[in-house]
Amino acid sequence: METILITGANKGIGLELVRGFAESGRHVIACCRVPDEASDLQAVAAASDHVEVHEVHVSDGDSVAALARAIGDRPIDVLINNAGMAGPDFQHQGLADMDYDGWAETFTVNTMAPLRVLQAFRANLAKGANARAVTVTSQMGAIGLDMPVMFAYCSSKGAVNKVMRLAAPELKGDGIAVALVHPGFVKTDMGGPGAEITPKASATGLIAVIDALTLDDSPCFKTWDGNDHVW
Ligand SMILES: NC(=O)c1ccc[n+]([C@@H]2O[C@H](COP(=O)([O-])OP(=O)(O)OC[C@H]3O[C@@H](n4cnc5c(N)ncnc54)[C@H](OP(=O)(O)O)[C@@H]3O)[C@@H](O)[C@H]2O)c1
Repeated sequence: METILITGANKGIGLELVRGFAESGRHVIACCRVPDEASDLQAVAAASDHVEVHEVHVSDGDSVAALARAIGDRPIDVLINNAGMAGPDFQHQGLADMDYDGWAETFTVNTMAPLRVLQAFRANLAKGANARAVTVTSQMGAIGLDMPVMFAYCSSKGAVNKVMRLAAPELKGDGIAVALVHPGFVKTDMGGPGAEITPKASATGLIAVIDALTLDDSPCFKTWDGNDHVW
């Protein structure tokens, strides 16, 4: 049985990834900041023998290390760096007005934390079968697609794309494929009610994309519905 570790698993796309992977017979290590307050995730875990809930603050090295100790040397087949934030208020992350502290926090969560989590679970992935290190990025991070808004968010996602590309050649030697995935414009707390697709549709598409990934694809940037995305 495959084991999937997912961050930001308490709501939105992360929660639907947990539900979808568990329903398709995978074991899920579902991680979030405050398990005691994650009632939807706890309900999914209570209804399944294949979901375990763990606490992690992805931007805190000690917290990530504690999670790694809790997981031990178990093989992990798929790591999904899903936790992410939109950054400062829309009007405070642009050319005219930038919240620099908020930009730094956005980089910590969206860019640096995915590498920190990957480092912590690299050895577990190396023991996995067809191991995949997946990061939920955004089309807004693509260098080749300019959407001139939300400078903090866009740059943090563009940077994580680059970081994961840089990690890919060495990880190939461990048998770990690297993928960046754009989940679509999704009706979550981040995407808002006016977004285009439901979290369930996004997660269903992403699971199919992740299931089809092999080492030969690494590194790749895919959309939730299976297309290649411009970098
Ligand atoms: N929704 C979209 O249209 C869209 C489009 C492109 C990309 N994405 C990406 O998809 C991923 C999931 O987003 P979503 O749409 O499902 O949003 P969401 O419903 O707001 O969920 C965001 C998740 O990230 C966690 N998170 C937020 N800030 C964090 C922080 N500072 N430290 C640790 N965890 C934090 C949240 O945990 P808490 O509940 O504890 O805050 C939550 O689990 C993100 O990486 C996002 O950038 C979303």
